[in-house]
Amino acid sequence: MVSPKFLSIVPRMTRLTRLFFALFLLLPFSSRGDAPAPYQSPSVPVEQRVTDLLGRMTLDEKITLLSGSGYMTTHSIDRLGIPAFLTSDGPMGVRCFGPSTAYPDGVALAATWDAAQAHAAGVANGRDARARGVNILLAPGMNLYRAPLCGRNFEYYGEDPLVAGTIASAFIQGVQSQGVAATAKHFAGNEEEYARNKLNTVVDERTLRELYLKPFAMAVKAGVWCVMDSYNPLNGVHSTENDWLNNVYLKGELGFQGVVMSDWWACHDLIGMTNGGLDLEMPDNKLYNAKLLMPLLENGTLDMARIDDKVRRQLRMAFALGWFDRPQLIPSIPKDDPTSAAVALQGARESVVLLKNDGGLLPLDPAKVRNIVLVGHNADPAVTGGGGSGFVTPFHQVSVLQGLASAVGPGVKIARVPWNEKETAIPAQSAAQVRAADAVIVCVGFHDETSHMASPTRPGSEGEGADRPYTLPWGEADLIKSTAALNPRTVVILNAGGSVATAGWVSRVPAMLDAFYPGQDGGTAVAEILLGKTNPSGKLPFTWEKRWEDCPAYGNYPTARTPNANIYKEGVFAGYRGFDAKGVEPLFPFGFGLSYTTFDFSNAAATLDGSGNVQVTATIRNSGSRAGTDVVQVYIEPPQADVPRPVRELKAFTRIALAPGESKPVTLSIAKSDLAYWDPGTKAWVVTPGAYAARVGDSSRNLPLKTGFRIGN
Ligand code: BGC
Repeated sequence: MVSPKFLSIVPRMTRLTRLFFALFLLLPFSSRGDAPAPYQSPSVPVEQRVTDLLGRMTLDEKITLLSGSGYMTTHSIDRLGIPAFLTSDGPMGVRCFGPSTAYPDGVALAATWDAAQAHAAGVANGRDARARGVNILLAPGMNLYRAPLCGRNFEYYGEDPLVAGTIASAFIQGVQSQGVAATAKHFAGNEEEYARNKLNTVVDERTLRELYLKPFAMAVKAGVWCVMDSYNPLNGVHSTENDWLNNVYLKGELGFQGVVMSDWWACHDLIGMTNGGLDLEMPDNKLYNAKLLMPLLENGTLDMARIDDKVRRQLRMAFALGWFDRPQLIPSIPKDDPTSAAVALQGARESVVLLKNDGGLLPLDPAKVRNIVLVGHNADPAVTGGGGSGFVTPFHQVSVLQGLASAVGPGVKIARVPWNEKETAIPAQSAAQVRAADAVIVCVGFHDETSHMASPTRPGSEGEGADRPYTLPWGEADLIKSTAALNPRTVVILNAGGSVATAGWVSRVPAMLDAFYPGQDGGTAVAEILLGKTNPSGKLPFTWEKRWEDCPAYGNYPTARTPNANIYKEGVFAGYRGFDAKGVEPLFPFGFGLSYTTFDFSNAAATLDGSGNVQVTATIRNSGSRAGTDVVQVYIEPPQADVPRPVRELKAFTRIALAPGESKPVTLSIAKSDLAYWDPGTKAWVVTPGAYAARVGDSSRNLPLKTGFRIGN
């Protein structure tokens, strides 16, 4: 067996030494003079290797494996050749070991509605991890978007469990295809950053199962190796000690075979966490240490079988992913990898959502637009990501200003109007310049982003550790108004993890793009979209309300004014489910995003197979004059049930690229089990017999086709 210390010197070896080293690894153990133990042999089945190695470990060694060794790594046990596992955040790139590729953030990835892109992002993150010897990527973040204020919405995949679970599953499989473990976090009920360490999240079981736990269930099905328990208590018990969450639900019902780790310093009670299903305390051993554990094991308070199970899970993951059998570091993968950069750029192209385009102002016509003025803090330097443990320092970054400057042809003038955060309007000396421009691009949103935590004292920050205001930072709302008053050809570009207040300005601007946090090459993607080189295809993965008060979580969400309210009283009627139930008109609906072309839908039909699984077919046509991509969405309207159900819920979707005039038939499958609701009375999933409607279109509020099917009698 090769010691981890030895593996760590691999990158420093010359080519020739590496060759000898590889040949040495290939030599059978017997010819090296020490007969291999079963656990040392890659040909022995994983469970057998686990049992063999576990049997050779002392209790001290087992306890050593239960915790991190300080910051981003676990302990090695050299005697047995157990390597330390290196971890890294996640989720917008492999951030912990110097600069790295900065990908579009989670909400942007969700806005692509593209599982193939999520898989590609996972593969690229996995390669970036291998380029740094990282074993465990602390991603994806998959809490749901419940309210716009949550400081970490930008890391997550929007409000709908099917979109979040689909994107997360594809990302996970991509990461793990590279021999790197992915981590589904933060489990569970961590849908706000406000007082995240202590605020009790209260959610009824039906809501948990139908919404907030569903993406995690999909991640387990996709084979995720790690789950990270969140900081908050859930229904009165800290996640790291929550027997129902970790043991009954995750490991029992879902059959999760991997490792439950704590969020960083999220452990509070040794007996609670040992019995409550926590396998790995991170990042250090405040509680999982021999001094505290031994007496409790000796006097029978804690059961040795629990410790063995925790160790087993780690060993199982390590054997399954090959960490005992090869170096984790692949020095031939460049740290600044062009393959990764291409994936990041493509993600940004697919994610940007065109929210408004009155009068077809966009794309800017290169024949007419000779003079473009940029306004606002976020025009330059680039805003690549939100703050906190997700922030990645890239090797290069492209701002909107830089992106436009390199994309426009010769003879087009690009200028930036000076503006700083103390001003709320276009400075008087720049008014004439703004008025004369052929187009004005106002770049606004949160921007005070570094690897630091967000803070209520920095209103421009959006990130981990604090929630953010609903309003745009600084004087940006007034800046938009003053720009639009000077020039009707104003385009707003927003950087944010979710919706912001638009009252007073949104009706005054003809065009608006949501760029979220688009990663290192976001400026290139935005410029391509402004100039029509890329046709926008992103769709909102959350509902954008006209005012915060319209959001179903309003009043049930903790803020400085309502510090103790974290009861998910809106239940399953969160996001578009709540807007539909109450008949409230959103500003921009869930699933919505414009294109430079138009699409129409026809011929919807639904068929059932013998097991009650549904196939919905429809035809989509590009009825405009440009190539474009739309997302076909199927929402199911259930019959009356014993509990109030959402009017309709998204049950299937797919991206379709179409040439001008082209039509394509699409077929979307829905498993019968996906029609079920959780019955709190009988504590079971129930598929109500009766007539179901299937609605087809391209947003939760644009569903022109209706078809149907009957389940049961
Ligand atoms: C975050 C996690 C992150 C961990 C390690 C915590 O503060 O909540 O998402 O993975 O730090 O950086």
